[in-house]
Amino acid sequence: MSIEEENRLPDEEARREEEDLQDEATSSAEAPPEVVTDERAPRDESPYVSEDGAVMGRDFVIPGVNPRDHDPYKFHTGVKRDHGGEDAIEIIDLVKQFGRARILNGLNLGLPEDQVSMVLGPSGTGKSVLIKHIVGLLYPDSGDVLVHGESIPNMTDDELFEVRKKFGLLFQDGALFGSMNIYDNVAFPLRQHTDKGEEEIGEIVNRRLREVGLEGSSDKMPNELSGGMRKRAGFARALVLDPDIVLFDEPDSGLDPVRTALLGELIQEIH
Ligand SMILES: Nc1ncnc2c1ncn2[C@@H]1O[C@H](COP(=O)(O)OP(=O)(O)OP(=O)(O)O)[C@@H](O)[C@H]1O
Ligand SMILES: [Mg+2]
Repeated sequence: MSIEEENRLPDEEARREEEDLQDEATSSAEAPPEVVTDERAPRDESPYVSEDGAVMGRDFVIPGVNPRDHDPYKFHTGVKRDHGGEDAIEIIDLVKQFGRARILNGLNLGLPEDQVSMVLGPSGTGKSVLIKHIVGLLYPDSGDVLVHGESIPNMTDDELFEVRKKFGLLFQDGALFGSMNIYDNVAFPLRQHTDKGEEEIGEIVNRRLREVGLEGSSDKMPNELSGGMRKRAGFARALVLDPDIVLFDEPDSGLDPVRTALLGELIQEIH
């Protein structure tokens, strides 16, 4: 993910680099002084080269990051920490570029099984793009995405269709079908992926709608609802299949604090 540039202190950095080099020069008696100058020149002038050999500024830009920045990862505390369990989702060296804008630049990440994890970051840095890679709506330029050890980008359409049943996904904008009322939107995954009868479907749908506080709105169309209500309907739809993995893209944006707290509790409860 790209990093905001605002906190950069180029002068200080250059000074520190210089000091380091001087330390090196003084501590190693054998090193001839001209080696120090040779080393410095290309390091100061050359643009950042990504691990895959792509040159920042020439082959790609990271939005908000200076192409001359030699350490665009400097705000990444970065090591993938061992959480002592299995990863449900593993992201390996994920690179994704739209045109020249490189959004994900070799991302590595493990999301543990049986836990609630959160990805935070400024707007436009690639959180939604990451989620779309996990469910196979976007494909990496390079790198891999594993869900329970299986590579999503290498799946056939049929395999992807099957694996998507594992996921409940709440899109950032709700992504309801505009031509269906709320009830049918929430019932859709059950009708599509199960052979349950309408009566059973009705019980599940009404329970989920009650949980998100939409029991009175089931026959409304999405465009008759507020943004927060659409989000709650999307939330109900994400849960109807009792999925193994639920991905929420900004579950709380557009909601009032009371509703946010209730949905937070609901996430813990279904977990
Ligand atoms: N399909 C696409 N084509 C071109 N650029 C895209 C596409 N999808 C996303 N982007 C770009 O990728 C970047 C990251 O977008 P993304 O939606 O992942 O941000 P985000 O972290 O989810 O932000 P927010 O917090 O505002 O939701 C943005 O610069 C966006 O313009
Ligand atoms: Mg987003």
